Amino acid sequence: NAASSDPRTTPPFRPIDPGNADTMTLPERYRFQVVAPWGEVFTADGRELGFNHDYVGFFPTDMLTGGRSSTDALLTINHEYVNPLFVGGNTKDRTPAQIEAEMRAMGVSVVRVRKEGGTWKVVVDPRNRRIDALTDIELTGPVRGTAAVKGATMVKGTVGNCSGGQTPWGTLLTCEENVDGYTKSWAGSGYEPMHQGWVTEIDPFDPTWTPKKRTAMGRFRHENVAVTLTKDGRVVGYMGDDMQDSCVYKFVSRGKYDPADRNANRDLLTEGDLYVANFGNGSWTLLDFDKNAKLKEAKGTDGKPLFANQADVLADARASALAVGGTPVDRPEDIEIHPKTGEVYISLTNNAKHGNYFGQIIKFREDGGDAGAGTFLWEVFAVGGPQSGFASPDNLVFDPHGNLWMVTDNSDLSTNPIKAYHGNNAMFFFPTEGPNAGRAYRFAVGPVDAELTGPVWSPDGKTLFVSVQHPGEDSEGLDKLRSNFAAKPGTNIPRPTLVAIEGFPGWERA
Ligand code: FEO
Ligand code: CA
Ligand code: CA
Ligand code: CA
Repeated sequence: NAASSDPRTTPPFRPIDPGNADTMTLPERYRFQVVAPWGEVFTADGRELGFNHDYVGFFPTDMLTGGRSSTDALLTINHEYVNPLFVGGNTKDRTPAQIEAEMRAMGVSVVRVRKEGGTWKVVVDPRNRRIDALTDIELTGPVRGTAAVKGATMVKGTVGNCSGGQTPWGTLLTCEENVDGYTKSWAGSGYEPMHQGWVTEIDPFDPTWTPKKRTAMGRFRHENVAVTLTKDGRVVGYMGDDMQDSCVYKFVSRGKYDPADRNANRDLLTEGDLYVANFGNGSWTLLDFDKNAKLKEAKGTDGKPLFANQADVLADARASALAVGGTPVDRPEDIEIHPKTGEVYISLTNNAKHGNYFGQIIKFREDGGDAGAGTFLWEVFAVGGPQSGFASPDNLVFDPHGNLWMVTDNSDLSTNPIKAYHGNNAMFFFPTEGPNAGRAYRFAVGPVDAELTGPVWSPDGKTLFVSVQHPGEDSEGLDKLRSNFAAKPGTNIPRPTLVAIEGFPGWERA
């Protein structure tokens, strides 16, 4: 009947069961294609796609002239981290050459893809490129050149590229999340942790534009940025700090977005205000050294002041946020904005420290529906657990009907109660209105040990691009592989890859 096919309230597929197969399992009539696996050469000068694909940005090739191609795009793929077992082959006694190979396998790929005769293909294009852990990147904003970054204005590379966001002017915001381990892992390479942990802006259309780290958006374990505008046209980025008992942030640019001036927009994220969420009273607190006495008074365990200036405040946003009463929450992962209501949805993935194994998705509504508001109201949208069927919500993406699509990340919790019901990491669909709002319908199950990440739609809703990250990650050796997903023909080494899922009716279904 008409009600049961309402695209706002019912899934366009027959839900599937949990599973443990070493493939991408999908509902009837759906299929997937491996599009851009690790190691594939995709530039004219022989660069290879990086490892452990995460967030995917979709930039139609005709976007800057107002087009919305669904079959020809520059994709940006984050490569979050490497597994030395697969990249280099040694897990101990890694040579300088292996460490350099690891640095070259991380960061971001800009890769053109086109659908030809029903098949997605990588196209060699002059805009294809790698931005890796050794690429020159400019620091911008209040922390540039300060003691907090050892005086640097230019730095090496972007690492820990987890999720991200796209700006209305057609740039990528890639988020540097788990950046601390490399101080030890890459000892001797010149790695500087204070140069990482930022949001980096990259222009996929313009390889001559030096990527920029946006220090005004703070330094923490950046998961992603959900971008929107205030009612008066300033740019807002909602961001989570993916760490146990860490906070949710909002950045508001000083300048206003001008749809007619792309060059000016590319500077918008240099300056602005950073706020932290207080979920106790539903308010945003400004992190400004000169305006908040608590930041001047904050002391470390050694009794010394934590911050001497605004650069210090931004460079340790987590400590700043907690000092002014920001609410610590259970690992804020992805944040996305509902396309119709403007409500902001956040995955709180889990927090074993609190016995929260299954996680929740919460949502809030800014006062007056204005992303520039100082106050908001929040509520729980969906709760993980055996009853709902999901656990550890991570990346989110909306469709234009307002349905939420979510992927799980149970990677770190393999021995906990999730095992009893969940199976491999999966993708779920949730209506956000009607009688089944918040109910989880399982759409896809990933291969062994893998996490599905970075989902993004083609503008017509016919293709869903998903990264398959770390298949076979828990293998104890190349002779004990747990997965062979997307292995090169004739080999058995699993490969992280971008896949294209098709079979969707598109946005036009009645
Ligand atoms: Fe890289 Fe918070 O996930
Ligand atoms: Ca994540
Ligand atoms: Ca997302
Ligand atoms: Ca995760």
